[in-house]
Amino acid sequence: MKQELVKAAQEALQQAYAPYSGYRVGAAVLAGQDVFKGVNIENASYGLTICAERSAVAAAISSGARQIQGVAIAVEIGAPSPCGACRQVLREFGTDFPVYLVAGDGAVRETTIKLLLPGSFGPEFLAKEDNH
Ligand code: THU
Repeated sequence: MKQELVKAAQEALQQAYAPYSGYRVGAAVLAGQDVFKGVNIENASYGLTICAERSAVAAAISSGARQIQGVAIAVEIGAPSPCGACRQVLREFGTDFPVYLVAGDGAVRETTIKLLLPGSFGPEFLAKEDNH
């Protein structure tokens, strides 16, 4: 799983739309048998930018997937660190799946949402489980 996700995230970042920051990010989500890619999509109205992680989650969920088994996030410079919003969006679909952080030099650090977002809020806090 690791190598497939890492490669997919690295491939995805080539498609990033980041004309303002120049900071290209790629993400890949494994759900079921499929890997879904996402990139950051910037906008001239800067605040409307979508991060790579959230666009990969959107692709996976839009296909009907609900179980995330792993995520990789790749950048070209330094090492990635998913923003708070993306941590929360990933957390919706689990806390224990592996999150591979892929640095520009190819180094991979494995972590989890549990570590990235301690004490987090999630769907089990809500009464209605059948909303999912
Ligand atoms: N970005 C991501 O795609 N993911 C993150 O976790 C951090 C930030 C993007 C948003 C923006 O296009 C660029 O990186 C600089 O913030």
